[in-house]
Amino acid sequence: MYIRNVLISGLAAASTAQAYSNYTIREEDWTVPAPAPVQEKRTLAKIFGIFDGIFGGGGKEPAQECPAVWTQISSTLTQQFLGDGQCTDAARAAIRSSFHDCFNGACDGSLILANECSNNENRGMERLCGNLANVASQTKVGVADLIQFAAAHAVKTCPGGPTIPVKVGRKDSSEANALGVLPSGHANAKDLVGLFAQKGFSPYDLAALIGAHTAAKQRFTDPSKAGSALDSTVGTWDNKYYSETMRGRAPFTLPSDKSLAQNPLTAGPFIAFAASKGMWDSAFVSAMVKMSMLGVENKGDLIDCTSALPGGSKKRDVRSRNLFDRLKW
Ligand code: HEM
Repeated sequence: MYIRNVLISGLAAASTAQAYSNYTIREEDWTVPAPAPVQEKRTLAKIFGIFDGIFGGGGKEPAQECPAVWTQISSTLTQQFLGDGQCTDAARAAIRSSFHDCFNGACDGSLILANECSNNENRGMERLCGNLANVASQTKVGVADLIQFAAAHAVKTCPGGPTIPVKVGRKDSSEANALGVLPSGHANAKDLVGLFAQKGFSPYDLAALIGAHTAAKQRFTDPSKAGSALDSTVGTWDNKYYSETMRGRAPFTLPSDKSLAQNPLTAGPFIAFAASKGMWDSAFVSAMVKMSMLGVENKGDLIDCTSALPGGSKKRDVRSRNLFDRLKW
């Protein structure tokens, strides 16, 4: 039987439980229920298809529907990523895992399939890797897709998080990607700008991506301050990370983040993103979409599953933003 306890109940009482209080402790929490029937959706799609034919949308191949299993996965992830109205430690690990699966080669699931998760540079993501591996084996979805879907879901789950369009259909690989490519928290901005440029990211993209540290904690960079957050509102997706990092006001700042805040190529975007969450959101979303496709060769065959994320469409998202953010001033 699938459902069984995976972690010893004593863990809950251990002192480390504090730092992981919102984290997964049982495998059943990651059990994905059977997909609901999609008949109704199909009927609506057919009706709209007829209208498309009449009013000129005809002739185009209908976009393939996102498999229903992603909606089921989405509800399982929400249980893990949302706690007390904030995003949880599991959500942070998921956001980070998208970067760590893609940036050292390709978004190919090797973080889990080649057990890269046990490498030093991936410390802190071991539980997430185990949990996502379980979900993938229960639902038969691709691991590379699941990592990117979970990251987009986690960003969206953090209050204020934008919708990152997410597609599925990547090829999985159990061949490990290169070690030592992922940057450390002690890297300097000049090296980081060069490293990201090699992968096709501008300093503006880099400054936008690093804003993911709005929802981050550190454990291993300075173990004496394990569990410290990289901004004062770690459970929400806001742009305080930028102003707090620039002013040295965050609970903890990684040396690499400090260096980026001060480098002439990234300091400008830091100031702009601190002033406008709307500007940061759109820069972040487009850089994340680009990152989620690194090394993916069959881009044209992927299926859009953005609709399976919580909160619905991008349009609704934009309308819920404040006026200044909507105008992207
Ligand atoms: C300049 C490149 C980057 C560097 C040097 C960097 C470095 C780090 C370091 C050192 C940590 C803390 C690890 C620890 O001590 O436990 C961390 C955490 C984190 N990073 Fe980054 N990172 C970078 C880019 C990114 C990107 C592109 C994303 C996602 C889009 C990301 C998302 C996160 C998240 C969410 C955490 C928190 C993980 C947790 O709390 O479990 N980082 N990063």
